[in-house]
Amino acid sequence: MIKDVEKILLSEKFIEAKVSEMAEKISRDYEGKNLLLLGILKGSVVFMGDLMKHLTIPTQIDFMRVSSYGGGTVSSGRVNIILDIFRGDLDTCDVLVVEDIIDSGKTLSYLVQYLKNKGAKSVKTCTMLDKPSRREVDFTPDYVGAEIPDEFVVGYGLDYDENYRALPYIGVLKREVYEK
Ligand code: IMP
Ligand code: MG
Repeated sequence: MIKDVEKILLSEKFIEAKVSEMAEKISRDYEGKNLLLLGILKGSVVFMGDLMKHLTIPTQIDFMRVSSYGGGTVSSGRVNIILDIFRGDLDTCDVLVVEDIIDSGKTLSYLVQYLKNKGAKSVKTCTMLDKPSRREVDFTPDYVGAEIPDEFVVGYGLDYDENYRALPYIGVLKREVYEK
Protein backbone atom coordinates (compact mmCIF):
# COMPACT_ATOMS: atom_id res chain seq x y z
CA MET A 1 0.00 0.00 0.00
CA ILE A 2 1.32 3.46 -0.89
CA LYS A 3 1.78 6.16 1.77
CA ASP A 4 -1.07 8.43 0.60
CA VAL A 5 -3.64 5.69 1.07
CA GLU A 6 -5.15 5.35 4.54
CA LYS A 7 -6.69 1.92 4.04
CA ILE A 8 -7.58 -0.52 1.32
CA LEU A 9 -11.35 -0.61 0.89
CA LEU A 10 -11.56 -3.21 -1.88
CA SER A 11 -8.67 -5.56 -2.56
CA GLU A 12 -7.49 -6.63 -5.98
CA LYS A 13 -8.88 -10.09 -5.26
CA PHE A 14 -12.30 -8.81 -4.27
CA ILE A 15 -12.50 -6.58 -7.35
CA GLU A 16 -11.53 -9.43 -9.64
CA ALA A 17 -14.26 -11.70 -8.27
CA LYS A 18 -16.85 -8.94 -8.37
CA VAL A 19 -16.07 -7.91 -11.94
CA SER A 20 -16.32 -11.44 -13.29
CA GLU A 21 -19.64 -11.85 -11.44
CA MET A 22 -20.92 -8.62 -13.08
CA ALA A 23 -19.68 -9.77 -16.51
CA GLU A 24 -21.55 -13.04 -16.11
CA LYS A 25 -24.78 -11.25 -15.34
CA ILE A 26 -24.34 -8.78 -18.21
CA SER A 27 -23.56 -11.64 -20.60
CA ARG A 28 -26.81 -13.32 -19.61
CA ASP A 29 -28.92 -10.15 -19.80
CA TYR A 30 -27.52 -9.03 -23.17
CA GLU A 31 -27.61 -12.38 -24.93
CA GLY A 32 -28.97 -11.81 -28.46
CA LYS A 33 -28.76 -8.02 -28.10
CA ASN A 34 -26.39 -5.55 -29.72
CA LEU A 35 -24.24 -4.59 -26.75
CA LEU A 36 -22.17 -1.42 -26.89
CA LEU A 37 -20.01 -0.78 -23.83
CA LEU A 38 -19.63 2.97 -23.47
CA GLY A 39 -16.79 3.82 -21.13
CA ILE A 40 -16.72 7.23 -19.50
CA LEU A 41 -13.16 8.52 -19.62
CA LYS A 42 -10.95 8.45 -17.82
CA GLY A 43 -12.08 6.77 -14.61
CA SER A 44 -13.73 3.75 -16.21
CA VAL A 45 -10.77 2.47 -18.24
CA VAL A 46 -9.41 -0.10 -15.81
CA PHE A 47 -12.85 -1.44 -14.87
CA MET A 48 -14.00 -1.49 -18.49
CA GLY A 49 -10.86 -3.36 -19.62
CA ASP A 50 -11.42 -6.04 -16.99
CA LEU A 51 -15.16 -6.23 -17.55
CA MET A 52 -14.97 -6.69 -21.33
CA LYS A 53 -12.44 -9.52 -21.04
CA HIS A 54 -14.89 -11.48 -18.91
CA LEU A 55 -17.92 -11.08 -21.19
CA THR A 56 -18.97 -14.23 -23.01
CA ILE A 57 -21.05 -12.39 -25.65
CA PRO A 58 -19.87 -10.15 -28.48
CA THR A 59 -19.53 -6.45 -27.76
CA GLN A 60 -18.29 -3.26 -29.32
CA ILE A 61 -16.77 -0.46 -27.28
CA ASP A 62 -16.86 3.29 -27.43
CA PHE A 63 -15.95 6.18 -25.15
CA MET A 64 -17.18 9.55 -24.04
CA ARG A 65 -15.44 12.02 -21.83
CA VAL A 66 -17.32 14.30 -19.51
CA SER A 67 -16.31 16.49 -16.65
CA SER A 68 -18.32 17.27 -13.57
CA TYR A 69 -15.45 17.62 -11.14
CA GLY A 70 -13.52 20.87 -11.48
CA GLY A 71 -10.54 19.08 -9.94
CA GLY A 72 -10.35 18.24 -6.25
CA THR A 73 -12.90 16.20 -4.35
CA VAL A 74 -16.09 18.23 -4.83
CA SER A 75 -18.34 17.91 -7.86
CA SER A 76 -19.24 21.12 -9.67
CA GLY A 77 -22.61 19.58 -10.47
CA ARG A 78 -22.54 20.66 -14.11
CA VAL A 79 -21.85 18.02 -16.71
CA ASN A 80 -19.76 19.07 -19.72
CA ILE A 81 -19.25 16.79 -22.70
CA ILE A 82 -15.60 16.94 -23.69
CA LEU A 83 -15.60 13.98 -26.08
CA ASP A 84 -18.88 12.97 -27.68
CA ILE A 85 -19.91 9.68 -29.26
CA PHE A 86 -20.32 9.77 -33.04
CA ARG A 87 -21.95 6.67 -34.54
CA GLY A 88 -24.46 6.43 -37.34
CA ASP A 89 -25.84 3.17 -35.92
CA LEU A 90 -26.67 4.30 -32.38
CA ASP A 91 -30.34 3.46 -32.97
CA THR A 92 -29.34 -0.23 -33.20
CA CYS A 93 -27.14 -0.20 -30.07
CA ASP A 94 -28.02 -1.48 -26.62
CA VAL A 95 -25.80 0.92 -24.76
CA LEU A 96 -24.34 0.04 -21.38
CA VAL A 97 -22.65 3.09 -19.88
CA VAL A 98 -19.63 2.06 -17.81
CA GLU A 99 -18.59 4.34 -14.95
CA ASP A 100 -16.05 4.15 -12.14
CA ILE A 101 -18.28 5.56 -9.42
CA ILE A 102 -21.67 7.15 -8.93
CA ASP A 103 -21.76 9.91 -6.37
CA SER A 104 -24.35 12.71 -6.72
CA GLY A 105 -25.82 10.78 -9.67
CA LYS A 106 -25.74 13.86 -11.90
CA THR A 107 -23.26 12.50 -14.47
CA LEU A 108 -25.10 9.24 -15.12
CA SER A 109 -28.62 10.65 -15.05
CA TYR A 110 -27.54 13.33 -17.51
CA LEU A 111 -25.81 10.82 -19.80
CA VAL A 112 -28.73 8.39 -19.87
CA GLN A 113 -31.07 11.16 -20.98
CA TYR A 114 -28.50 12.46 -23.47
CA LEU A 115 -28.04 9.03 -25.10
CA LYS A 116 -31.78 8.40 -25.25
CA ASN A 117 -32.27 11.77 -26.93
CA LYS A 118 -29.54 10.84 -29.37
CA GLY A 119 -31.61 7.80 -30.35
CA ALA A 120 -29.89 4.83 -28.68
CA LYS A 121 -32.00 1.67 -28.82
CA SER A 122 -31.63 1.12 -25.08
CA VAL A 123 -29.51 2.65 -22.33
CA LYS A 124 -28.47 1.06 -19.04
CA THR A 125 -25.73 1.84 -16.56
CA CYS A 126 -22.98 -0.12 -14.86
CA THR A 127 -20.73 1.27 -12.16
CA MET A 128 -17.93 -0.32 -10.16
CA LEU A 129 -18.73 1.77 -7.09
CA ASP A 130 -21.80 3.45 -5.66
CA LYS A 131 -21.95 5.99 -2.85
CA PRO A 132 -25.74 6.00 -2.30
CA SER A 133 -25.55 8.35 0.69
CA ARG A 134 -24.29 11.15 -1.59
CA ARG A 135 -27.12 11.08 -4.10
CA GLU A 136 -28.52 14.49 -5.11
CA VAL A 137 -30.75 13.29 -7.94
CA ASP A 138 -32.95 10.22 -7.93
CA PHE A 139 -30.97 7.65 -9.88
CA THR A 140 -30.43 3.90 -9.57
CA PRO A 141 -27.69 2.22 -11.65
CA ASP A 142 -28.52 -1.16 -13.23
CA TYR A 143 -25.28 -2.95 -12.29
CA VAL A 144 -23.21 -2.10 -9.21
CA GLY A 145 -19.92 -3.66 -8.09
CA ALA A 146 -19.97 -2.42 -4.52
CA GLU A 147 -21.69 0.17 -2.37
CA ILE A 148 -19.23 2.19 -0.33
CA PRO A 149 -19.49 4.77 2.46
CA ASP A 150 -18.97 8.48 1.89
CA GLU A 151 -15.18 8.49 1.69
CA PHE A 152 -12.97 9.77 -1.11
CA VAL A 153 -11.41 6.77 -2.83
CA VAL A 154 -8.70 6.31 -5.45
CA GLY A 155 -7.25 3.50 -7.52
CA TYR A 156 -8.60 1.08 -10.13
CA GLY A 157 -9.09 4.04 -12.48
CA LEU A 158 -10.25 6.55 -9.87
CA ASP A 159 -8.15 9.64 -9.40
CA TYR A 160 -7.48 12.58 -7.19
CA ASP A 161 -6.18 15.39 -9.41
CA GLU A 162 -5.27 12.81 -12.10
CA ASN A 163 -3.11 10.71 -9.77
CA TYR A 164 -3.46 7.19 -8.32
CA ARG A 165 -5.46 5.75 -11.25
CA ALA A 166 -3.06 2.83 -11.77
CA LEU A 167 -3.34 1.36 -8.26
CA PRO A 168 -4.70 -2.20 -8.56
CA TYR A 169 -6.90 -1.83 -5.45
CA ILE A 170 -9.44 0.78 -4.30
CA GLY A 171 -8.26 2.70 -1.27
CA VAL A 172 -9.34 5.61 0.91
CA LEU A 173 -7.15 8.64 0.28
CA LYS A 174 -5.60 10.23 3.38
CA ARG A 175 -7.36 13.50 4.18
CA GLU A 176 -4.05 15.31 4.54
CA VAL A 177 -3.47 14.78 0.80
CA TYR A 178 -6.42 16.95 -0.21
CA GLU A 179 -6.90 19.11 2.88
CA LYS A 180 -3.65 20.98 2.48
P1 IMP B 1 -21.50 12.29 -9.93
O1 IMP B 1 -21.93 13.02 -11.16
O2 IMP B 1 -21.54 13.19 -8.71
O3 IMP B 1 -22.23 10.99 -9.70
O4 IMP B 1 -19.94 12.04 -10.07
C1 IMP B 1 -19.38 10.97 -10.67
C2 IMP B 1 -17.90 11.28 -10.91
O5 IMP B 1 -17.32 11.91 -9.78
C3 IMP B 1 -17.11 10.02 -11.12
O6 IMP B 1 -17.03 9.65 -12.46
C4 IMP B 1 -15.75 10.38 -10.56
O7 IMP B 1 -14.93 10.94 -11.58
C5 IMP B 1 -16.00 11.43 -9.53
N1 IMP B 1 -15.92 10.91 -8.14
C6 IMP B 1 -16.94 10.83 -7.24
N2 IMP B 1 -16.53 10.30 -6.07
C7 IMP B 1 -15.22 10.02 -6.23
C8 IMP B 1 -14.21 9.43 -5.36
O8 IMP B 1 -14.44 9.03 -4.20
N3 IMP B 1 -12.97 9.31 -5.89
C9 IMP B 1 -12.65 9.71 -7.16
N4 IMP B 1 -13.55 10.26 -8.00
C10 IMP B 1 -14.82 10.42 -7.54
MG1 MG C 1 -12.53 11.76 -11.77
